[in-house]
Amino acid sequence: MGDDLQEILVTAEQLDQRLSEMAAQIDADYQGKEILMVGVLRGAVMVMADLSRKLHTPLEMDWMAVSSYGSGTKSSGVVRILKDLDHDVNGRDVLIVEDIIDSGLTLAWLKTNLESRGAKSVKIATALRKPEAMKVDVEVSYVGFDIPDEFVVGYGLDYAEKYRNLPFVGTLKPSVYSH
Ligand code: PRP
Ligand code: MN
Ligand code: MG
Repeated sequence: MGDDLQEILVTAEQLDQRLSEMAAQIDADYQGKEILMVGVLRGAVMVMADLSRKLHTPLEMDWMAVSSYGSGTKSSGVVRILKDLDHDVNGRDVLIVEDIIDSGLTLAWLKTNLESRGAKSVKIATALRKPEAMKVDVEVSYVGFDIPDEFVVGYGLDYAEKYRNLPFVGTLKPSVYSH
C-alpha cells in the first residue's frame, strides 16, 4: 500500500493535534448541552472515533448513510438516504461529522434535511475541506484542514473502497488509477 502513495498532505500527528483543538472549541461552544453526533458513513468513521474520544461534553452517536445520485464520482446534490438515523433529532443539538467536504452538496442537503426534522441546532465538523471545489455555500463550524482540490485518500477517505485505514491523508500515484 505504501508503494501506491505519492505524497502525504496531512500527517497522523497533525490530525491528532488539530482534532484536539477542535474538540476544545466544541466543548466550549456546547457547555451545558448534550450533543447528538451524526456520522456520515462510511468516510466519517475515523473522525467520529477520534473526535468523540477527545470531547468532554455529554454526547450520543448516530449514523446516516447517504448516496448522491448522478454520474459516478461527482455528487449531484440530489441525495438518497440509504440508512436513516435511529434517533429522533427533534429538539436536539446535532453535530454532523464528516471526513471531507468536497462540493459541499451532500452536507448542504443533509443540514437542511435535519433542520426540517426539527433539530434545535445543526452544526458541521469536518476533518478536511476543499475550498476550491465547493459549489454551494455551506457554513462549517469546525474544519480540520483546508486542502487543495486534489484526490486524497486515508483517514476514512477511499479510492474504490481502499486506503480508508491509512492513518494520514495523502495522494496516490497516477499509476494506481490506470490499473
Ligand atoms: C464522500 C465524503 C463525503 C462526500 C463529500 O463520501 O466522505 O461524505 O463524499 O462530497 P461532496 O462535498 O461533494 O458532497 P462518499 O460519497 O465517497 O461515500 P463514502 O464516505 O462511503 O466514501
Ligand atoms: Mn462520505
Ligand atoms: Mg468515497
